Amino acid sequence: MKRWPIRIRLTAWYFGVSAVTFVVFGTAAYFAMRRSIETTVDESLRDRAAGVRELMTRMLPEGSERVADELREHSELREEGDLSQVSDEEGHWIYRSSLMEHYEVPMAQAGTPTFVTLRLKEMPLRLLTRDDRLDDRTYHIQVAAPMDDFYDALAHFKWELCLLSPVLLVIASAGGYWMSRRALLPVDEITQAAQKISHKNISSRLAIPQSRDELQRLSETLNDMLERLEAAFNRIAQFTADASHELRTPVALMRTTAELALRRPRQDTEYREALSQILREVERTAVLIEKLMLLARADSGAEALRFAPVDLTENLREACRQGHTLADAKQIRFQEQTCGSPTFVEGDAHALERLFLILLDNAVKYTQPGGQVAASLSHSDGFAVVEIRDTGIGIGQEDLPHIFERFYRADKARSREMGGVGLGLSIGQWIAQAHGGGIEVESVIGQGSVFRVRLPISKA
Ligand SMILES: Nc1ncnc2c1ncn2[C@@H]1O[C@H](COP(=O)(O)OP(=O)(O)OP(=O)(O)O)[C@@H](O)[C@H]1O
Ligand SMILES: [Mg+2]
Repeated sequence: MKRWPIRIRLTAWYFGVSAVTFVVFGTAAYFAMRRSIETTVDESLRDRAAGVRELMTRMLPEGSERVADELREHSELREEGDLSQVSDEEGHWIYRSSLMEHYEVPMAQAGTPTFVTLRLKEMPLRLLTRDDRLDDRTYHIQVAAPMDDFYDALAHFKWELCLLSPVLLVIASAGGYWMSRRALLPVDEITQAAQKISHKNISSRLAIPQSRDELQRLSETLNDMLERLEAAFNRIAQFTADASHELRTPVALMRTTAELALRRPRQDTEYREALSQILREVERTAVLIEKLMLLARADSGAEALRFAPVDLTENLREACRQGHTLADAKQIRFQEQTCGSPTFVEGDAHALERLFLILLDNAVKYTQPGGQVAASLSHSDGFAVVEIRDTGIGIGQEDLPHIFERFYRADKARSREMGGVGLGLSIGQWIAQAHGGGIEVESVIGQGSVFRVRLPISKA
């Protein structure tokens, strides 16, 4: 289902909330006003009834005629006309004002003072009835007030509310629309700017509004994301360029060797020599392609490690067996120091062995004959620490921060001569990090290097 734009939805909400507010507020105001008018009228009725009672207390001893005279006299003083009547317990009128007679207000009895609103001859009347006992007789006193003016005013107020509300509602909704448009305008700008960014101009950034609000944060977050994407994009582009370059060299070498061999007829041994040189390059290239594929799979998340409890002691011992062979071939002394007890980590046995071999291969490769390589395993703060130490050529301070980068070699010529392409440590670091650990390195040029792999020991 197609949804309306936020602008329209916000305005609709604004309209709805305003409408409910107006209805609730209008109804409450109407009833509060009505209540307040009635309270005021009731208050004055109560005073008047008390006045009548007070007068009767004074005048009754002189006879009920005196009471009527006195009340009549008082009523003539009331400009707005008198609305009061008094009867005795038999229902005889003691006093009845002419207006009460006109509206034919019926006499009623009330145990306690009672207020009612009656409509008599089209006139709304608020009526208070109270019974009073004077000289052992009960009298019913009633006073009333006309409510027509008040109710007219209330009706007027109601109409004004009903007419004004839609107008206010339209104004409020228009205001809401205008405000949401204004608030969302920068979002449109961000959308348009973001649409223009592609791989061709990945270094462009969104303009940041200095509004210190959500939109500024949104633009900054998008720019941070672009920053990360650009870095990843550049890394991949660089990787592809370096990989092509590394592949071109052996292919060129194989081609030249084959062309040279074919230029004229040669002896068997010469062909054999050329072919074995080509085979060496093919093997090297196969290793390079295998490394490139592994890194590409690691980048895309397709290289799945199979985690299981691995005994590092056994795993390192296995790697050291191959390290020993490499060291022996180069007349390098090899020392292995693993604690006897098993040390379990949660990991991929194959990948971990590969990691140790990468480090052992480097240690042997970058150490002169007569040197020494040592591998050890120890524990520290819940981590297993595998240390590969050599007395080789060492790594310069300026190279140390870069040796884990892809294709980085401290000494390109020498490394290539030794068969290195500069991917070993990148792969090793990926393996260590995928196991929740890492690799540290210390090195002094001319004296040797120490590579330390830290892996969390499995709790189980
Ligand atoms: N033990 C070491 N002693 C001295 N230099 C080292 C040592 N280990 C690594 N390096 C330096 O770090 C660089 C990167 O090492 P890395 O293992 O990634 O690549 P490589 O050995 O050149 O090639 P690859 O391992 O892919 O065949 C090496 O070229 C080398 O200059
Ligand atoms: Mg290496």
